Amino acid sequence: MHFTPLFLGALAALAPAVQAVGNATVINNCPFPVYLTWVGQCQGPEVTLNAEGGRYIETFTRDPVSGGIALKITRVQGGVSQGAPQTIYAYNLNNGLIWYDLSEVFGSPFAPNALRLAPSDITCPTIFWPSGVSPGGSQVRNCQENSTVTLTLCA
Ligand SMILES: *[C@@H]1O[C@H](CO)[C@@H](O)[C@H](O)[C@H]1NC(C)=O
Ligand SMILES: *[C@@H]1O[C@H](CO)[C@@H](O)[C@H](O)[C@H]1NC(C)=O
Repeated sequence: MHFTPLFLGALAALAPAVQAVGNATVINNCPFPVYLTWVGQCQGPEVTLNAEGGRYIETFTRDPVSGGIALKITRVQGGVSQGAPQTIYAYNLNNGLIWYDLSEVFGSPFAPNALRLAPSDITCPTIFWPSGVSPGGSQVRNCQENSTVTLTLCA
């Protein structure tokens, strides 16, 4: 088979489309289990992260309807449907950037323990709540999409 320069050029043009995107990772360093629910346009099943090292990992995706994804974390099983205090790690994969955000609703489930949301690319901003309580205001940051962004509970 003969590869023309035009064909090779077309292959090179395709290469950026397969560039890897990073992961959304949650590490539970707390001495108690926590419960994580994935929410896009619909809600996924609740996942348990064991005490002292339980992990959740997913590759960043873009929801076709909501765009952004929320990982809602509670200390109570079934907490999202019960309206229990929730820490929310939200992300939005958009045009080569990963936008990430930490927020809470109905209280601060991890206080007084620290929470850290940190990209693997250390030149991008980290969100750190030293006593597990939102400082208020917008917490949205961004980084290049190939960075893995990790939420550490009881950091
Ligand atoms: C994302 O997680 C998967 C599964 O653990 C791993 O194989 C992959 O290397 C991770 N990707 C990055 C960019 O860290
Ligand atoms: C992410 O992409 C940037 C820019 O293209 C590159 O310099 C960096 O090495 C990549 N990092 C990883 C972890 O792939």
